[in-house]
Amino acid sequence: MDYRSCIPSQIAYPFLSSLDNKELSMGMVSNPRTRVGAKFAKITSPKDEDLLDLGEMFAVIVNGLPYYNAIAKNSEISKYQPGSLAAAIKGDPDFAQIARVDGELAGFCFSQKDDGLIWLSWFGVSPKYRRQGIGRALLAALERRARSCRSHKIWCDSRTDNAPSCNLLNRSGFRPICKVTNHWYGQDFILWERYIGY
Ligand SMILES: CC(C)(COP(=O)(O)OP(=O)(O)OC[C@H]1O[C@@H](n2cnc3c(N)ncnc32)[C@H](O)[C@@H]1OP(=O)(O)O)[C@@H](O)C(=O)NCCC(=O)NCCS
Repeated sequence: MDYRSCIPSQIAYPFLSSLDNKELSMGMVSNPRTRVGAKFAKITSPKDEDLLDLGEMFAVIVNGLPYYNAIAKNSEISKYQPGSLAAAIKGDPDFAQIARVDGELAGFCFSQKDDGLIWLSWFGVSPKYRRQGIGRALLAALERRARSCRSHKIWCDSRTDNAPSCNLLNRSGFRPICKVTNHWYGQDFILWERYIGY
């Protein structure tokens, strides 16, 4: 089935139409030739001493996004402070993954176990390191996490107008489930899913 048939017809997703079906069916996250990478970015779990920088990076990235209203930004930033990150990692050591380039923090991915699924809460890359494959590498690492805990699916949301995120999710094998309007913080979102198998 063409993934576009899942998208309500009245909604325009110009960023999806630029992708062809061949690319979408290739499972790009597991393609070792994807230009990401391991060559440039090292993906690891953060250590305690990383959490201050990680919380700060999260706040800076979220504050800089045009897609979220002020209530959303304040609420999300308050959830990912160093203390709450430490607590989440204590409960689930793979809750956070970070990307480093030459030792410098370049990106992050937060996810949690969700009744057999993995919920991808947030991912982001420092503006300085964008369009170098780090986002794709973080999602590939998330796929490995899902496989390691034998989860059959990852799911997440994005704002409807977040084209970089929507494009990356598409390229990483996620498919739109639906659009939910007037939802979290009164804003519109797309729900996404990525089947792993099992
Ligand atoms: C979304 C985000 C994580 C992408 O990270 P990235 O490291 O730049 O992504 P990659 O380099 O791995 O890009 C992979 C693909 O994503 C898509 N993409 C990434 N940035 C894009 C952009 N600015 N415009 C359109 N497509 C984009 C492209 O298809 C790209 O492949 P290509 O470079 O071969 O064309 C980054 O833009 C970001 O941190 N955004 C702010 C935080 C955010 O919105 N998080 C998601 C919340 S749902």
